[in-house]
Amino acid sequence: DKGNHRHFMQKEIYEQPVVVAQTLRSYLRPLEEQVALPDMEFDLAGVERVAIVACGTAYYVGMIGKYWIEQLARIPVEIDFASEFRYRDPVFTPNMLGVVISQSGETADTLAALRHMKESGLTTGGIINVPTSSMAREVDLLLPTHAGPEIGVASTKAFTCQLAVMAALAVNLARAKGKLTAEEEREIVHHLREVPEAMSHALGHDAEIEAIAPKIAAARDVLYLGRGPEYPMALEGALKLKEISYIHAEGYASGEMKHGPIALIDDSVPLIVIAPSGPLFDKTVSNMQEAQARGAQVVLISDAEGIAQAGENTIATIEMPKVHPLIAPLVYAVPVQLLAYHVAVFKGTDVDQPRNLAKSVTVE
Ligand code: F6R
Repeated sequence: DKGNHRHFMQKEIYEQPVVVAQTLRSYLRPLEEQVALPDMEFDLAGVERVAIVACGTAYYVGMIGKYWIEQLARIPVEIDFASEFRYRDPVFTPNMLGVVISQSGETADTLAALRHMKESGLTTGGIINVPTSSMAREVDLLLPTHAGPEIGVASTKAFTCQLAVMAALAVNLARAKGKLTAEEEREIVHHLREVPEAMSHALGHDAEIEAIAPKIAAARDVLYLGRGPEYPMALEGALKLKEISYIHAEGYASGEMKHGPIALIDDSVPLIVIAPSGPLFDKTVSNMQEAQARGAQVVLISDAEGIAQAGENTIATIEMPKVHPLIAPLVYAVPVQLLAYHVAVFKGTDVDQPRNLAKSVTVE
């Protein structure tokens, strides 16, 4: 049931403050102000390396997880597309934790990668939405997301719930590795608790985003830029736009623009810049300005501080609340999803059932 929403995708975008809160609630211990995981039969302190495997949108959660786990827990993380993982003959080292991420828990490539990890002797964890799925049954440690059924083919609420669980995993690894003080953990818990409200705030910009949609819908190509954890968000934005509006879109790490992609820029190419203010902001903005000097039509997604600093000469700005860098990907996912949604609605494509796509890809 879509309720009063026009599409399942819209409903699922709007459900995010609730389902992310629901997911976080099962990982946050309010009294101790700690992040907890379900009971497990192995000790996270022994983990020396993490290998993450997923497909599509779930893969971008893995990319963000690499930033978080390496930064917080100081252990190396590798990340592969499930379809590439097995066939590159990955090197397994002792004390490696294998992590799969999947909404359906049935994606054939990810399931095959999970089985390969297990056969190779790895301990495995899985961030999975469907609790009765094959992957949920086969992982050693199930880390459930509580997004509820996701009907729209384009993943939205599963993505942000996966991010919430990934943050919980990163914090637990960090604590187990002795890299996080109780005080630091308390602060992270506070930031995570702010997520649902910040997402609601982001949803409040829906009408502005809808107003930009016709301009984006008229483009042949759209580029997305981000740096650090917002780089995978740029990839996610481009994937979302491609799959439901059929407009060609690519995401780039902002610093890579000048190594090639900037050649694509002219005044017909919208550039969506995902840039919360913070340590990476100035660098991203200088990459954005290089593109603006070549005619790029910029939509800047930032907070008030970022927009005050760099919002000039853009075709639009979308103002997010000021949030801690750790939770920015969860909040910035909302405008990125809404933009793809409104462009598709404006173009009149089948938002919930895009051509050539299936909700669950059960062939390798
Ligand atoms: C994109 C999308 C897909 C899935 C991918 C993995 O919006 O939905 O890219 O993320 O097919 O699916 P799961 O998470 O079920 O393994």
